[in-house]
Amino acid sequence: MGKISKKILFSRDAIQKRVRELAYQISKDYAGRELIIIGVLKGAFILMADLIREMSIPCKVDFAGLASYGAGSESSGKVVMTKDIETSIKEKDILVVEDILDTGLTMQYFVDRLKERNPKSLKTCIFLVKRKKRKVNFKADYVGFNIDNCFVVGYGLDFNEKYRFLPHIYVIKK
Ligand code: PRP
Repeated sequence: MGKISKKILFSRDAIQKRVRELAYQISKDYAGRELIIIGVLKGAFILMADLIREMSIPCKVDFAGLASYGAGSESSGKVVMTKDIETSIKEKDILVVEDILDTGLTMQYFVDRLKERNPKSLKTCIFLVKRKKRKVNFKADYVGFNIDNCFVVGYGLDFNEKYRFLPHIYVIKK
């Protein structure tokens, strides 16, 4: 593979500012309720840690693992749950936290599975939402940034499992 070049799309400061705004909005919307936040592994682990520490209301947390199999950098359409949540979500207020929305297939699959368990409410917070025609018409409730259809890494997002640790979000050119 040739050399990879990367350019900052959102700096650590810009990310922190946006995470604070989302946390403020979520805290306001869920004030007085019992919120369970579910992070989708692996990408969302850093956002989740930052978001809950900026919130002014208590919450419980859990994680799910989802994978979409297939070749290339775009998901194939076959999503599987590699790790289920451990919490019962029946009659609970649920917020799913995810790093990026691309084709929408992962979120659509996960939200459909969770709805079968009859939560009281179910919303999604997705940090990066690609502006493109999705394979499924999925709309996030809380969005960090809308971005062009590019390949991004850092702040939890990877390229072949690399770059998740980077504090900024970068666009990479392969
Ligand atoms: C990424 C991302 C979402 C999904 C979005 O996960 O975290 O879960 O792809 O793509 P979609 O909208 O086209 O379904 P990935 O499978 O790369 O796993 P990871 O979070 O472990 O990196």
